[in-house]
Amino acid sequence: MSRKVLILKGDHIGPEIVNEATKVLHRIDERFHLGLQFEEGLLGGAAYDAVGDPCPEATLEKARQSDAVLMGSVGGPEWDKVDRQLRPEKGLLKLRSGLGLFGNLRPAILYPQLAGASSLKPEIVSGLDILIVRELTGGIYFGEPRGIRVLENGEREGFNTYKYSESEIVRIGKLAFEAARVRNRRVCSVDKANVLEATILWREVMQVLASDYPDVELSHMYVDNAAMQLIKAPKQFDVIVTGNMFGDILSDAAAMLTGSIGMLPSASLDRNGKGLYEPCHGSAPDITGRGIANPLATILSAAMMLRYSLQAPDAAVAIEQAVSAVLDNGLRTSDIYTEGTRKVSTAEMGDAVVAAL
Ligand code: IPM
Ligand code: MG
Repeated sequence: MSRKVLILKGDHIGPEIVNEATKVLHRIDERFHLGLQFEEGLLGGAAYDAVGDPCPEATLEKARQSDAVLMGSVGGPEWDKVDRQLRPEKGLLKLRSGLGLFGNLRPAILYPQLAGASSLKPEIVSGLDILIVRELTGGIYFGEPRGIRVLENGEREGFNTYKYSESEIVRIGKLAFEAARVRNRRVCSVDKANVLEATILWREVMQVLASDYPDVELSHMYVDNAAMQLIKAPKQFDVIVTGNMFGDILSDAAAMLTGSIGMLPSASLDRNGKGLYEPCHGSAPDITGRGIANPLATILSAAMMLRYSLQAPDAAVAIEQAVSAVLDNGLRTSDIYTEGTRKVSTAEMGDAVVAAL
């Protein structure tokens, strides 16, 4: 079988963390004989600087011809002045949308070794295992019309459109219900149905869909309350399904429960299981080039890639176990460092995972 992987390093710490994930994948390939084939492409600010487009057609084409894409991170202050349409983030959005990657899976799992690094008390977070299913190619991120216009009185007005069609809601809902079936069979749909029509429909459609999944319990929560509950009693959640913007925000909050956003991987899937794999965190311009970024979110994203797009679940488990073993041995990048553990660099962390494999 073909297992073509496109590597998009992106900006700032992107290349640093992707290099470690690539080391891990080479080792995995050696051990499991997967026949992985790697190719590289440009995305984000790096692509803008090279060819004037944050998501060049060549990258989209390579992505279409790959079985999976592994990405680092995009963006940085040096592109703040670039035309809105050509910002690094736009490149990522174009890639997600161009590949039809509507289903974003963001697991927030607390490694028991990191309970002390969480900002919450250990008893609140120990055993935490939440899956956020975020809709990724619709909602206010993509709704038209959008823009900044000049009003009659001369002042400017920014505007966006929050919309979801029934079919968009159904396909993300199905993904969430299916995911819940192999977990604890509970889905919490997060909306703002007390205010926004788009989410009144969202709630209605989720309710109807639930009748196809009698074995899964569906509940609903307003997004403001969900933010509070995530901090207050996060273990009440199993699967959270929500729209693009709410999912963006809640997944950052969930990340902190696990000790560091540097631990959170993600998968973005199309209807055939092809996917883009990236850490949930950004490009961290403040720590670029210092060799201190945590590569584990990217390494764990590579594990998700093996599981969901490359049909190599054993290899995925091996990586996850290797990460756990390295944490057991007390190795920590600075974002997850606590007293009594050993602070290591990005490359040392990557090497330790490779060694554990
Ligand atoms: C994320 C990021 C992106 C998003 C940005 C970089 C466009 O915050 O993946 O969560 O908002 O989706
Ligand atoms: Mg985000």
